[in-house]
Amino acid sequence: MGSVSLKIGDGTARFKRSTLCSSAVNGLIIFSVLTTNLFALYAFTYSPSTRSTHSFLPAHKDITLISEQVSLIMREIEFSQKKLAQMEKDILGYESIDLSLPNTADELQLFLRRHRLPLGKDSRTGITEMVASVGHSCVKSMDMLSQYMNYKPYGQCPDDLSLAQKLILKGCEPLPRRRCFAKTISKVGLSPFPHSLWKNVSDKIVSWSGFSCKNFECLRNKNCAGCFDFANGYENQRFVKARGKNDFLIDDVLAMGSGGIRIGLDIGGGSGTFAARMAEKNVTIVTQTLNNEAPYNEFIAARGLFPLFLSLDHTFPFYDNVFDLVHAGSALDVGGKPEKLEFLLFDIDRILRAGGLFWLDNFYCANDEKKRDLTLLIERFGYKKLKWVVGEKVGLGKSKVYLSAVLQKQIRV
Ligand SMILES: *[C@@H]1O[C@H](CO)[C@@H](O)[C@H](O)[C@H]1NC(C)=O
Ligand SMILES: *[C@@H]1O[C@H](CO)[C@@H](O)[C@H](O)[C@H]1NC(C)=O
Repeated sequence: MGSVSLKIGDGTARFKRSTLCSSAVNGLIIFSVLTTNLFALYAFTYSPSTRSTHSFLPAHKDITLISEQVSLIMREIEFSQKKLAQMEKDILGYESIDLSLPNTADELQLFLRRHRLPLGKDSRTGITEMVASVGHSCVKSMDMLSQYMNYKPYGQCPDDLSLAQKLILKGCEPLPRRRCFAKTISKVGLSPFPHSLWKNVSDKIVSWSGFSCKNFECLRNKNCAGCFDFANGYENQRFVKARGKNDFLIDDVLAMGSGGIRIGLDIGGGSGTFAARMAEKNVTIVTQTLNNEAPYNEFIAARGLFPLFLSLDHTFPFYDNVFDLVHAGSALDVGGKPEKLEFLLFDIDRILRAGGLFWLDNFYCANDEKKRDLTLLIERFGYKKLKWVVGEKVGLGKSKVYLSAVLQKQIRV
């Protein structure tokens, strides 16, 4: 927030912009200034009807009255200013991290301390100091953050992957950097690409720290319906063999892109099978996933695919109009207010290029209202519907509604 990246030498440094306030806050300030001034103007010019009856009063009474009014106005202004400051905090959702608090970890202070630019103010950007970037919501989890930053510099990092993920899920993203050595795991037996795509991954080459399961066998019936198992079940048939009309096949979707699909993003991509199938078609897919109760990121990497460890609350670290394809299923259901999904869909739209495809794959609609809202929302983006299938699946006696679609982004003017 309020930071921009500049390339300096061989690294990227982060700078704080001089203007931190959003336009909403600016609007509030203007509103407040206007109202307090109008109030003052009103108080000075308004002549109450009762005044005529008191017109025999000596002039100094008027002056007393005016000074009373002025102090009233001053109090009012002071009160509005306090209220405004609070509103500003509420809107932005953060207050700066108070590094002077007694139990703040030393390493956190070091990481977040501002550094003046060695050559003074940068004439192009007006920036005077460098600040490290850390999620603004980290301030809400200061105890956990301090625990995370409590390590011996140059020593081993604590075994705390689940703590890191907990922080991320509480909005503390990005996490602060640390100066400790993360545990290394010997990755013996990695297969060369493309054999790696469908080879079992050994239990020994991933970290099981923080998970209740300690091997893939244990995960088999627990997470993502057997997505770690290529020998049994449906995983090795996904995207090449349909179970119903909601399952589209990779070849069909690629044909809709008329040969222009080369790079894409898979949101909530489980063990990376979508990326694996796409890799076989020479399409490069980045798979976004956290490590929710299973070592998804390491598993995807072991397959020779690109894992992206990032929550869906974070702006995608990709530039506008770069992807040919975005694939997502029910992972898109981020919950909360409808605006939350809107922010996410707008971010997906941002990174997708015109002519690119948004493949919505078996999105579970809990009820008709949800389906209607999602449909309306999608229609507002003005995508061309290349495929649109609403299907029902019966499970445990209750039928569930799923939406699958392939949508093509159009050029907006
Ligand atoms: C891979 O793992 C599955 C169980 O997850 C097992 O059934 C299969 O035999 C394994 N394949 C190889 C080649 O080890
Ligand atoms: C992928 O690229 C390789 C190397 O260029 C080529 O031999 C192969 O036919 C391509 N596969 C597909 C499905 O296009």
